[in-house]
Amino acid sequence: AHPPVTVTVTGAGGQIGYALLFRIAAGDMLGASTPVRLRLLEVPQGLASAEGAALELQDGAFPLLESLEVTDSPERAFDVTNIALLVGSRPRTAGMERADLLAANGGIFGPQGAALNAHAADDVRVLVVGNPANTNALIAQQNAPDIPADRFTALTRLDHNRALAQLAAKLEVPVSSVRDVTIWGNHSTTQYPDVFHALAEERPVRDLVDEAWLAEEFIPRVAGRGAEIIDARGSSSAASAASAAIDHVRDWVHGTRNGWTSVALPSTGAYGVPEGIVSSFPVHSIDGRWVVVEGLDVNAFSRRRIDLSVDELLEERAAVAARGLLPS
Ligand code: NAI
Repeated sequence: AHPPVTVTVTGAGGQIGYALLFRIAAGDMLGASTPVRLRLLEVPQGLASAEGAALELQDGAFPLLESLEVTDSPERAFDVTNIALLVGSRPRTAGMERADLLAANGGIFGPQGAALNAHAADDVRVLVVGNPANTNALIAQQNAPDIPADRFTALTRLDHNRALAQLAAKLEVPVSSVRDVTIWGNHSTTQYPDVFHALAEERPVRDLVDEAWLAEEFIPRVAGRGAEIIDARGSSSAASAASAAIDHVRDWVHGTRNGWTSVALPSTGAYGVPEGIVSSFPVHSIDGRWVVVEGLDVNAFSRRRIDLSVDELLEERAAVAARGLLPS
């Protein structure tokens, strides 16, 4: 058996939390031989819901669940944590400007970054799910100067999985036969799902679809899938988001399989994306670290769309910097 791993889930009383916790306890994220110590962080008004989830986790009698704790203290929740899943965030309410949304979340992710910096284990890995995820991850990272920047990531795996699924449906092939799609940029409607390097049953996808379908159907469908789910379900995607978070961490710890995946991480300048912003790239996971896939040809169709999403990230960074949320 492996040594136990401490996993912190923030927003544990919310709907993604409810879908995520049971998968973690069942071993889907870290494997069937890794015991888990779970810490659930909520704000005071969310504690009752998190405590309810904790009761059900107890009733699951999961052999891998070594301990379980619910708290509203970030310091306690992040103490010696190895994996921090930052799901809780401030949702946009009617009439709220984007700059105000970014600032409200800065008030959450700044202190959480500082608490991680002070209390987390040396090997901590951070995944931000709560929106606006990329810029929330940037804020947390900038408030955690002692943690290597590449340990901070934001979730674009759900978008990646949606792209795989849409291609599989269009081409009428099993989803497991599709690989090497890329989500570039921001986890927002400006994201760019790129299929120019993708393979389906080992055939180049670019030979099987045309640019009109990509521009008019595929890209808007993937980028707008969140809204489509809300319309159908009456609430936002939860189980698929939780599943993508599980995929993200599992691959980070155990390595990517079946081609590359997509992860938003602090740019080191690859593909002309300005250094520092948390932007989504094609990556492999090698020896527990994300490694950006190098040397891909970026055509004009792709370049325009990547730049558009990156511009949005630069605007978001400028907005939070103007509010003093990036200390450095
Ligand atoms: P939810 O509203 O059901 O749950 C959020 C929970 O976070 C609430 O229980 C709330 O009390 C808690 N919370 C708020 N501030 C907190 C703080 N400072 N510390 C700890 N907990 C806090 O929302 P849901 O559906 O679970 O979604 C969570 C977030 O994930 C949202 O921001 C949503 O937009 C985002 N999301 C991101 C996706 C992605 O692909 N990156 C996909 C789907 C959702």
